[in-house]
Amino acid sequence: MSVRAVVTGVGHYLPERIVPNAAFEETLDTTDEWIRTRSGIERRHFAAEGETTSDMAIAAARRALTAAGRGPDDIDAVVVATSTPDLTFPSVATMVQDGLGMTRGFGFDVQAVCAGFVFALTNANALILAGQAKRVLVIGAETFSRIMDWTDRSTCVLFGDGAGALVLEAQDGTGDTSDRGILSADLNSDGRFRDMLYVDGGVSSTGHSGKLRMQGNPLFRQAVDKLTATAHTALSKVGLSDDAVDWIVPHQANIRIIKGTAKKMGVPMERVIVTVQDHGNTSAASIPLALSVGAERGQIKPGDLIVTEAIGGGLAWGAVVLRW
Ligand code: UT7
Repeated sequence: MSVRAVVTGVGHYLPERIVPNAAFEETLDTTDEWIRTRSGIERRHFAAEGETTSDMAIAAARRALTAAGRGPDDIDAVVVATSTPDLTFPSVATMVQDGLGMTRGFGFDVQAVCAGFVFALTNANALILAGQAKRVLVIGAETFSRIMDWTDRSTCVLFGDGAGALVLEAQDGTGDTSDRGILSADLNSDGRFRDMLYVDGGVSSTGHSGKLRMQGNPLFRQAVDKLTATAHTALSKVGLSDDAVDWIVPHQANIRIIKGTAKKMGVPMERVIVTVQDHGNTSAASIPLALSVGAERGQIKPGDLIVTEAIGGGLAWGAVVLRW
């Protein structure tokens, strides 16, 4: 017997305001056609004025708890992946605890930008395997609209806001890959690439939060190879190959990266969850959003083998293999 961290509930929240690509044509030298063909994005959601990352995280968490049939008192830990917290501190996770009415347990944030959810899920799994927590809320939540330079057409058309959440629970498994739950993970980062995607401000440098800067094309050229390699490493840790994969649930940055990675893994696009057209790039929220939407659409079913993979600022990248 071995303990597994099993997903027992999933939920998401998207802000009401939907902005189509055409809206950017009014203020920037861009077109719906360029955005669609280069990125696959058609529209994105933006948070309302005053709507924060923790507001969205709490809304997604409530839905995940309802789906799991759990209340806030059942949860031992909250792990939030975000690079756009409400405040420099305290963590968004403690705001989620308060918003849900959780007066026990603990919470903390994980910051690995677009790969944040993969890092958060791996940390939550480790807490469960180490016996530090039996039930963990793992959330990805972002308001990237707040760090956009609205005059930079090469970035501001790509990102969106939203949140997704999972309830992970300790359950007994057999120890083989037929178990439900997280089966393996692979994490990587390499700070030599940090200029490819960063925010040009912060507490100890400029004293203000700054705007996102990205060298899109060099990052694009890194993405497919690194994502394929990390997915393969995670699968091979438990002796699985690409044929075992029911669903790739990728970070949703660009449809061409998603297609390139699936092709390199030999997984047909019918077995890839794609939400980038509706959400844009929501950074650490994109994978839990895609998991929630994939389950809601009836695509992801209990027992399916899923590989999630993501890359972003740092660079930081990784993959998690789990059975739903
Ligand atoms: O989530 C974190 C990880 N992020 C990513 O993985 C993003 C990775 N990068 C990408 O997705 C792509 O590189 C982009 C979608 C950002 C850009 O696509 P690309 O095919 O790499 O285009 P490019 O950056 O090479 O730009 C091609 C042209 C340039 O013009 P010139 O120099 O060829 O005259 C850009 O100035 O497209 C121009 N351009 C635009 N044109 C119209 C850049 N942004 C726009 C725009 N509208 N919004």
